[in-house]
Amino acid sequence: MVKRTSLHGMWSSRFVFVLAVAGSAVGLGNIWKFPYMAGQNGGGAFVLFYLVCVVAIGLPIMISEIMIGRRGRRNPIATMRIVGEEEGSSPSWGLVGVLGILAGFLILSFYSVIAGWALSYFFLSLGGRFAQATPETIGRLFGGLLGNWQAMAIWHTIFMLLTIAIVARGVERGLEKFVRLAMPGLLVLLLILLVYAVIAADFAAGWKFLFRPDFAALTPGAMLEAMGQAFFTLSVGMGAIMAYGAYLPEGTSILRTSAWVVAADTSIALLSGLIIFPIVFANGLDPASGPGLIFETLPLAFGNMPGGRFLAPIFFGLLVFAAWTSAIGLLEPAVAWSVETHGRSRRVAGIVIGTVIWALGFLTILSFNVLSEFRLFGGTIFDNIDHLASNIFLPLGGLFITIFGGWVMCKNSSADELDLGSGPAYGAWRFLARWLAPAAVLVVFLHATGILGRFGLV
Ligand code: TRP
Repeated sequence: MVKRTSLHGMWSSRFVFVLAVAGSAVGLGNIWKFPYMAGQNGGGAFVLFYLVCVVAIGLPIMISEIMIGRRGRRNPIATMRIVGEEEGSSPSWGLVGVLGILAGFLILSFYSVIAGWALSYFFLSLGGRFAQATPETIGRLFGGLLGNWQAMAIWHTIFMLLTIAIVARGVERGLEKFVRLAMPGLLVLLLILLVYAVIAADFAAGWKFLFRPDFAALTPGAMLEAMGQAFFTLSVGMGAIMAYGAYLPEGTSILRTSAWVVAADTSIALLSGLIIFPIVFANGLDPASGPGLIFETLPLAFGNMPGGRFLAPIFFGLLVFAAWTSAIGLLEPAVAWSVETHGRSRRVAGIVIGTVIWALGFLTILSFNVLSEFRLFGGTIFDNIDHLASNIFLPLGGLFITIFGGWVMCKNSSADELDLGSGPAYGAWRFLARWLAPAAVLVVFLHATGILGRFGLV
């Protein structure tokens, strides 16, 4: 077996790799998306099903992605093609990489817009605009941002420029410095907010909403959303983690790294829920209000807690940071591909690809104002972009990746790469990757189409 080396440099240590993967996983998905999705899908049962998906589907797929990435050491398209051929299968596996890069384009296009909201809130909080906040004043503030598409476009543009700037510099120099800082800081701020939620908001109601499952609310659609959320929040299913795995030195435990990242990511999402929902119920807000949820609740906490004046800008600053480290991961696969196949410099590739995604972002911006009445399949354009990417492309990509890791790669290759010997950990991964994860994705897909119900299977 030839050992390849990456063309983009390597992570300088195992710890930095853990930080980079955690930095890509922890982001708006945990703090912005998880609470509003849980709110729209009835709470407890959604949360429970999401947790099951994280462990049974997300974790084995993350392990597979890192493993395949380190084996191939190229961008996701080339990696799947090369390793596919090496394992005596077809080069068409490269198409999975194409699907992933497409998903990355779609996700980053709206991700950057929402990160722009966080950026705008950073400056609003710097200016002390949350002081003595009430649900009405904050509602007006947020409504003002949504109604002003030009302002949203400016914040989106700034965020996209920040992302391109880092990706253009390359993994080691660009990424490492930032991930070291953001994560611990964010955790501290969330813990302070949790104390506020326990003392000053309706913690009991929030807890009940999140952890007392009402299985009647778990519709096939909600199950699909929960599975999509598991993929989204872990950054798996599109080759992003595969691209990061390509820069991972030999001899790092893929299993341990993945387990840490999954645990950290899940804790931060739950923490965020435990902060948001007590505030929602204490203020008579609607848990199902949608993508604006954190922007309508957190300012209430900051506006009314001691020190909130100073903590608010720190929090939103860190949120932008966390979104930034994720956005970098969303852009990296496409840039790595462009550099490797077209021989472009990282700079040119970053700018060209970033500009296309930036333009795509306007569809999301306009979904909240000019085109907010426009409905497709019962949702706005943003809802459709998110649904297509998160709930369809990511699970589909993940399905192919886990089939690839479990079936196409032979036992020798995966055992060699994972380096777990033939112990129970390897056996458990292989069982999940070969059987449970693919079956679960398929069942949820079929269930969402209503087919299982029609045949009386559920
Ligand atoms: N996981 C990120 C978050 O929770 C979002 C995301 C989805 C992502 N897919 C990704 C980030 C791929 C990096 C790479 O905010």
